[in-house]
Amino acid sequence: MAHEDCNDRIVITGSDHAGFEAKSHVIDYLDHRGFSVLDLGTHSSDPVDYPDYGVAVAKAVTERKNATGIIICGTGIGISIAANKVKGARAALCTTPFHAEMARKHNDANILAMGARTSTVSEMEAIMDTWFATSFEGGRHQKRVNKIHELTENIR
Ligand code: RB5
Repeated sequence: MAHEDCNDRIVITGSDHAGFEAKSHVIDYLDHRGFSVLDLGTHSSDPVDYPDYGVAVAKAVTERKNATGIIICGTGIGISIAANKVKGARAALCTTPFHAEMARKHNDANILAMGARTSTVSEMEAIMDTWFATSFEGGRHQKRVNKIHELTENIR
């Protein structure tokens, strides 16, 4: 039986133009699974800059206590790099369900990044299925996640 994390009913989505079409599928998938979706754009295939959307989603996720982000660009690389500049963001680029499992179990990742040019929509669904079925294990992993947060506290 899949365990739904406390946070996982609210999903905040964002993509650049390369991820726009895949994001539409992802939103349909989330709707069908009963999630509340807040989509921060982009809203068409017109060219935009992926950092704007990665940062917007990361800010919205970290401002809330219990939310998950899903961000998509061509590869998932640029948008995840940008999202991870936001304090409290733990964006994980996942191309397989195993990445999603480990990102949740060990890294307590709060933002799932995917690539529209590297994953098919059905692969994304499998990644999301695992993501939402997997909880953070805490324990020794909590200490390591804390160290990541200490970096953003201490670096000037
Ligand atoms: C846009 O062409 C592309 O560079 C972007 O979607 C992403 O893949 C960047 O990492």
